[in-house]
Amino acid sequence: MTKVAILIGSLRKESFSKKLAANVAPLFPEGYNPEIVEIGNLALYNQDYDDENNAPSEYATFRKKMKEMDAVLFVTPEYNRSVPAVLKNALDVGSRPYGESVWDRKPAAIISQSPGKLSGFGANHHLRQPLVFLNMPTLQQPEAYIGNVADLLDEGGKIKDEGTVKFLQSFVDAFVDMIKRHQA
Ligand code: FNR
Repeated sequence: MTKVAILIGSLRKESFSKKLAANVAPLFPEGYNPEIVEIGNLALYNQDYDDENNAPSEYATFRKKMKEMDAVLFVTPEYNRSVPAVLKNALDVGSRPYGESVWDRKPAAIISQSPGKLSGFGANHHLRQPLVFLNMPTLQQPEAYIGNVADLLDEGGKIKDEGTVKFLQSFVDAFVDMIKRHQA
Protein backbone atom coordinates (compact mmCIF):
# COMPACT_ATOMS: atom_id res chain seq x y z
CA MET A 1 0.00 0.00 0.00
CA THR A 2 1.39 3.39 -0.99
CA LYS A 3 0.60 6.01 1.63
CA VAL A 4 -0.10 9.55 0.47
CA ALA A 5 -0.32 12.28 3.10
CA ILE A 6 -2.64 15.14 2.26
CA LEU A 7 -1.64 18.38 3.98
CA ILE A 8 -4.16 21.19 3.90
CA GLY A 9 -3.22 24.85 4.16
CA SER A 10 -6.42 25.93 5.91
CA LEU A 11 -7.88 25.20 9.33
CA ARG A 12 -11.29 26.67 8.52
CA LYS A 13 -14.25 24.33 9.16
CA GLU A 14 -15.82 25.04 5.77
CA SER A 15 -12.47 25.27 3.97
CA PHE A 16 -12.64 24.95 0.18
CA SER A 17 -9.19 23.34 0.32
CA LYS A 18 -10.58 20.63 2.62
CA LYS A 19 -13.53 20.10 0.30
CA LEU A 20 -11.25 19.88 -2.73
CA ALA A 21 -9.03 17.38 -0.92
CA ALA A 22 -12.09 15.25 -0.11
CA ASN A 23 -12.89 15.17 -3.84
CA VAL A 24 -9.32 14.37 -4.86
CA ALA A 25 -8.66 11.52 -2.40
CA PRO A 26 -11.03 9.04 -4.13
CA LEU A 27 -9.29 9.66 -7.46
CA PHE A 28 -6.23 7.67 -6.34
CA PRO A 29 -6.16 4.11 -7.71
CA GLU A 30 -6.30 0.86 -5.78
CA GLY A 31 -3.16 0.26 -3.76
CA TYR A 32 -2.98 3.91 -2.68
CA ASN A 33 -4.07 5.18 0.69
CA PRO A 34 -4.55 8.97 0.73
CA GLU A 35 -4.93 10.36 4.24
CA ILE A 36 -5.39 13.89 5.55
CA VAL A 37 -2.77 14.51 8.21
CA GLU A 38 -3.58 17.02 10.98
CA ILE A 39 -1.24 20.04 11.11
CA GLY A 40 -3.38 22.55 13.02
CA ASN A 41 -2.27 21.19 16.39
CA LEU A 42 1.44 21.84 15.80
CA ALA A 43 2.78 24.67 17.99
CA LEU A 44 4.75 27.33 16.11
CA TYR A 45 8.18 25.91 15.55
CA ASN A 46 10.77 26.92 18.11
CA GLN A 47 14.24 25.44 17.72
CA ASP A 48 14.68 25.40 21.52
CA TYR A 49 12.18 22.54 21.67
CA ASP A 50 14.54 20.31 19.75
CA ASP A 51 17.78 21.73 21.17
CA GLU A 52 16.51 21.17 24.72
CA ASN A 53 14.82 17.88 23.91
CA ASN A 54 11.39 18.97 25.09
CA ALA A 55 9.38 19.22 21.88
CA PRO A 56 5.56 19.08 22.21
CA SER A 57 4.22 15.53 21.92
CA GLU A 58 2.29 16.57 18.78
CA TYR A 59 5.64 17.09 17.03
CA ALA A 60 6.65 13.47 17.69
CA THR A 61 3.25 12.17 16.55
CA PHE A 62 3.38 14.22 13.35
CA ARG A 63 6.99 13.33 12.55
CA LYS A 64 6.38 9.62 13.11
CA LYS A 65 3.26 9.68 10.94
CA MET A 66 4.98 11.58 8.13
CA LYS A 67 8.02 9.25 8.20
CA GLU A 68 5.63 6.41 7.30
CA MET A 69 4.24 8.29 4.28
CA ASP A 70 5.44 7.62 0.75
CA ALA A 71 4.31 10.87 -0.87
CA VAL A 72 2.71 14.21 0.00
CA LEU A 73 -0.12 16.11 -1.66
CA PHE A 74 -0.54 19.73 -0.63
CA VAL A 75 -3.94 21.38 -1.08
CA THR A 76 -3.81 25.04 -0.16
CA PRO A 77 -5.28 28.49 -0.46
CA GLU A 78 -3.11 31.57 -0.88
CA TYR A 79 -2.69 33.92 2.07
CA ASN A 80 -1.39 37.36 1.15
CA ARG A 81 0.15 36.04 -2.04
CA SER A 82 2.02 33.27 -0.26
CA VAL A 83 1.77 29.98 1.65
CA PRO A 84 -0.49 29.98 4.75
CA ALA A 85 1.63 29.92 7.92
CA VAL A 86 0.09 26.66 9.12
CA LEU A 87 1.54 24.83 6.12
CA LYS A 88 4.97 26.42 6.33
CA ASN A 89 5.01 25.63 10.06
CA ALA A 90 4.30 21.96 9.33
CA LEU A 91 7.17 21.92 6.82
CA ASP A 92 9.49 23.47 9.42
CA VAL A 93 8.41 21.07 12.19
CA GLY A 94 8.92 18.06 9.90
CA SER A 95 12.34 19.28 8.75
CA ARG A 96 13.95 19.04 12.19
CA PRO A 97 15.83 17.89 14.27
CA TYR A 98 18.64 18.56 11.82
CA GLY A 99 19.37 15.48 9.73
CA GLU A 100 16.05 13.81 10.56
CA SER A 101 13.76 15.50 8.06
CA VAL A 102 10.58 13.60 7.30
CA TRP A 103 10.42 15.14 3.82
CA ASP A 104 13.61 13.92 2.19
CA ARG A 105 13.04 12.38 -1.31
CA LYS A 106 9.26 12.14 -0.88
CA PRO A 107 7.42 12.93 -4.11
CA ALA A 108 5.07 15.92 -3.75
CA ALA A 109 2.28 17.58 -5.68
CA ILE A 110 0.46 20.86 -5.14
CA ILE A 111 -3.11 21.95 -5.71
CA SER A 112 -3.86 25.59 -4.99
CA GLN A 113 -7.27 27.17 -4.97
CA SER A 114 -9.08 30.43 -4.49
CA PRO A 115 -12.69 31.59 -4.51
CA GLY A 116 -11.55 34.33 -6.91
CA LYS A 117 -9.84 34.07 -10.26
CA LEU A 118 -6.20 34.03 -9.10
CA SER A 119 -6.35 30.35 -8.02
CA GLY A 120 -3.62 30.55 -5.42
CA PHE A 121 -0.82 30.89 -7.96
CA GLY A 122 1.40 32.78 -5.49
CA ALA A 123 1.02 30.10 -2.80
CA ASN A 124 1.55 27.30 -5.32
CA HIS A 125 4.87 28.74 -6.44
CA HIS A 126 6.11 29.94 -3.05
CA LEU A 127 5.50 26.43 -1.72
CA ARG A 128 7.83 25.06 -4.39
CA GLN A 129 10.76 27.01 -2.90
CA PRO A 130 11.04 25.11 0.43
CA LEU A 131 10.30 21.84 -1.36
CA VAL A 132 13.49 22.30 -3.40
CA PHE A 133 15.55 22.58 -0.24
CA LEU A 134 13.65 19.74 1.46
CA ASN A 135 14.57 17.54 -1.51
CA MET A 136 11.02 16.69 -2.50
CA PRO A 137 10.65 15.96 -6.21
CA THR A 138 7.55 17.95 -7.11
CA LEU A 139 5.08 17.29 -9.90
CA GLN A 140 5.63 19.87 -12.63
CA GLN A 141 2.80 19.03 -15.04
CA PRO A 142 -0.05 19.35 -14.98
CA GLU A 143 -0.07 22.37 -12.70
CA ALA A 144 -3.23 22.57 -10.59
CA TYR A 145 -4.61 26.06 -10.04
CA ILE A 146 -8.29 25.87 -9.15
CA GLY A 147 -9.99 29.27 -9.45
CA ASN A 148 -13.61 30.23 -8.67
CA VAL A 149 -13.68 27.20 -6.40
CA ALA A 150 -17.03 28.01 -4.75
CA ASP A 151 -18.77 27.79 -8.13
CA LEU A 152 -17.35 24.32 -8.74
CA LEU A 153 -18.85 22.72 -5.62
CA ASP A 154 -22.42 21.68 -4.92
CA GLU A 155 -24.07 22.08 -1.52
CA GLY A 156 -22.63 18.80 -0.32
CA GLY A 157 -19.11 19.91 -1.22
CA LYS A 158 -18.89 17.67 -4.28
CA ILE A 159 -17.35 18.98 -7.49
CA LYS A 160 -20.21 19.37 -9.92
CA ASP A 161 -18.14 20.34 -12.94
CA GLU A 162 -17.20 17.25 -14.94
CA GLY A 163 -14.26 18.98 -16.67
CA THR A 164 -12.69 19.79 -13.30
CA VAL A 165 -13.05 16.18 -12.11
CA LYS A 166 -11.40 14.98 -15.34
CA PHE A 167 -8.61 17.46 -14.91
CA LEU A 168 -8.02 16.43 -11.28
CA GLN A 169 -8.02 12.77 -12.35
CA SER A 170 -5.28 13.54 -14.90
CA PHE A 171 -3.38 15.38 -12.17
CA VAL A 172 -3.62 12.41 -9.78
CA ASP A 173 -2.63 9.99 -12.58
CA ALA A 174 0.48 12.04 -13.32
CA PHE A 175 1.33 12.16 -9.61
CA VAL A 176 0.89 8.38 -9.29
CA ASP A 177 3.18 7.85 -12.32
CA MET A 178 5.75 10.05 -10.67
CA ILE A 179 5.48 8.23 -7.33
CA LYS A 180 5.98 4.90 -9.14
CA ARG A 181 9.08 6.22 -10.92
CA HIS A 182 10.54 7.22 -7.58
CA GLN A 183 9.71 3.86 -6.01
CA ALA A 184 11.36 1.95 -8.89
C1 FNR B 1 -6.99 35.38 1.98
N1 FNR B 1 -7.50 35.15 0.70
C2 FNR B 1 -6.70 35.35 -0.42
N2 FNR B 1 -7.10 34.95 -1.66
C3 FNR B 1 -6.28 35.08 -2.74
O1 FNR B 1 -6.64 34.68 -3.85
N3 FNR B 1 -5.04 35.64 -2.60
C4 FNR B 1 -4.56 36.06 -1.39
O2 FNR B 1 -3.45 36.54 -1.31
C5 FNR B 1 -5.42 35.94 -0.25
N4 FNR B 1 -5.00 36.33 0.99
C6 FNR B 1 -5.73 35.96 2.10
C7 FNR B 1 -5.19 36.18 3.37
C8 FNR B 1 -5.87 35.75 4.49
C9 FNR B 1 -5.25 35.93 5.86
C10 FNR B 1 -7.13 35.14 4.37
C11 FNR B 1 -7.88 34.65 5.59
C12 FNR B 1 -7.68 34.95 3.12
C13 FNR B 1 -8.86 34.62 0.52
C14 FNR B 1 -8.81 33.11 0.47
O3 FNR B 1 -8.51 32.69 -0.83
C15 FNR B 1 -10.16 32.54 0.90
O4 FNR B 1 -10.45 32.95 2.24
C16 FNR B 1 -10.18 31.03 0.80
O5 FNR B 1 -11.51 30.58 0.97
C17 FNR B 1 -9.27 30.38 1.82
O6 FNR B 1 -9.20 28.98 1.59
P1 FNR B 1 -10.07 27.94 2.42
O7 FNR B 1 -10.01 28.35 3.88
O8 FNR B 1 -11.48 28.04 1.91
O9 FNR B 1 -9.45 26.62 2.15
